[in-house]
Amino acid sequence: MPSNTAAWLTKVGAIPLDVKPAPYTPPTSHQIVIKNKAVAINPADWAIQKKGDMLFPWLAYPYIGGSDVAGEVAEIGSSVTRFKVGDRVFGLALCLAGEGAFQEYTVLRDHMTCRIPGALSYETASVIPLGLATAASGLFQKGLLGLQHPSVPPKPTGKTLLIWGGSTSVGCNAIQLAVAAGYEVITTASPKNFTYLKTLGASQAFDYNSPTIIPNLITALAGKSLAGALAIGAAGAHAPDQSPATACVQVVSACDGGHKFVACAQPPPDNLPEGVSAKFCSASSIKDDEVGRAVFVDFLPRALEEGAFVAAPEAEVVGRGLEGIQGAFEVQMKGVSASKIVVSL
Ligand SMILES: NC(=O)c1ccc[n+]([C@@H]2O[C@H](COP(=O)([O-])OP(=O)(O)OC[C@H]3O[C@@H](n4cnc5c(N)ncnc54)[C@H](OP(=O)(O)O)[C@@H]3O)[C@@H](O)[C@H]2O)c1
Repeated sequence: MPSNTAAWLTKVGAIPLDVKPAPYTPPTSHQIVIKNKAVAINPADWAIQKKGDMLFPWLAYPYIGGSDVAGEVAEIGSSVTRFKVGDRVFGLALCLAGEGAFQEYTVLRDHMTCRIPGALSYETASVIPLGLATAASGLFQKGLLGLQHPSVPPKPTGKTLLIWGGSTSVGCNAIQLAVAAGYEVITTASPKNFTYLKTLGASQAFDYNSPTIIPNLITALAGKSLAGALAIGAAGAHAPDQSPATACVQVVSACDGGHKFVACAQPPPDNLPEGVSAKFCSASSIKDDEVGRAVFVDFLPRALEEGAFVAAPEAEVVGRGLEGIQGAFEVQMKGVSASKIVVSL
């Protein structure tokens, strides 16, 4: 069995992460183990380090975090047929025993893993998993927006979806998934990101900082068949009373018919107007239903291979080795715009 090393969070508030030996966890029948080559950083990673006891009280310490990982298959479980040792893959790391990304070897679930097509680097591929899984939860799970699944080529539905926060990591994946599922996408971001989001498939983009953002979106959606909204992000300091979810609720509430449902990447607002529903989406929950397989197994390999889906947002490599992860937390914490902070291992 190989030796393993991890960047441990020994207790809440312990900075920096402690790089030291960790157990090597072999795969069960439907799992693989990968030797990690790149990890990407998410807001939850540093939020857990700072406030894990408040945000995720069930977490046990010492803890190995990290959700986004790409690497080379080192070992496969007895029932795995999609991968072989040596394949280049990326997947959603689940932060359970042996399944955190911030270590040398990570256990991944077979159906939450995807082969990396030839031209893509480990660093670029590592930006995909958590953004993709969060978007897929909101868009496709039956208790959420319940949209038609993505396909290559898409099967047009004639319906339009609002994605608030298109330049977030979740948003860049959501735009592409929704377009591949046959929906027109209207999104919000800072104007400097409009062109990029249109290359990902958005038909129109609006400035979320505009004082007229709500009427602008209502006008843009007028006469369209509304598929609902995906709200990404928390309320910013500039508009503490208007979280993306609250804004989306206002917009869908004013629309003339359609699916008045808001899937929320953050907890939804408490008070909803009559006729509007909203629900929290959870990235990791797609491992337990048909959505994980529909996205990671049925859609993504072919879509990446044919260029119908790209790794987005842009990877920004800021460090090297497990020791580089703490510094990468600090970079992510300062804020990013249409980019994902990555560490090469
Ligand atoms: N529920 C889950 O399972 C789950 C999983 C992952 C993430 N999340 C949550 O999803 C959110 C996004 O995470 P992420 O990693 O995708 O974020 P991120 O990439 O770090 O977000 C950065 C982006 O946020 C955009 N932004 C900031 N304030 C905004 C606002 N008021 N409206 C719209 N866009 C805004 C910025 O856009 P511009 O630069 O264009 O201004 C920037 O591109 C976070 O709140 C995170 O906690 C939830």
